[in-house]
Amino acid sequence: MTYKLLFVCLGNICRSPSAENIMNHLIKEAGLSAKITCDSAGTSSYHIGASPDQRMNIAASKRGIKLQGKSRKLKPADLQHFDLILAMDRENYQDILYFDREGKYETKVRLICEFATQKTAQEIPDPYYGGQDGFDEVIDLLFDACTGLLDYVVNSEGYQKAQT
Ligand code: 4NP
Repeated sequence: MTYKLLFVCLGNICRSPSAENIMNHLIKEAGLSAKITCDSAGTSSYHIGASPDQRMNIAASKRGIKLQGKSRKLKPADLQHFDLILAMDRENYQDILYFDREGKYETKVRLICEFATQKTAQEIPDPYYGGQDGFDEVIDLLFDACTGLLDYVVNSEGYQKAQT
């Protein structure tokens, strides 16, 4: 069985597709592509079917990442399906838990910045209405958080269990 990660933001065209593609890059580098899979989703329906934002593509390409995927909306079944769900900010976190009225999946949902080891930001800021600098900052924050996340995942009980 693979260990399944889901990255969630508001529009699923900036932060969460970046997190998904950066994480896939790190997983591939670590030779773990057969063991860990990634997906991403948005809490809104604003951009369903859209490709990642061009400004996000520019920022990602500076670090050798090509953003792939199309925006989709988070659905209640995602909470059951994925092993770990990473919110980009607190609003995303609350919106994800809105689908979990009974608190059944609460422990699967985390803020991605919890896994950062170099940066101190608590959230990945929404870059949509800002300049290119904000998109570059998102990539920097996500590289750090995803590096820590991969380390966490491979040492987690859930990952070990998924391998058996
Ligand atoms: P994301 O960024 O949540 O990182 O994909 C946004 C994309 C679109 C909008 C807001 C944030 N929007 O308001 O359309």
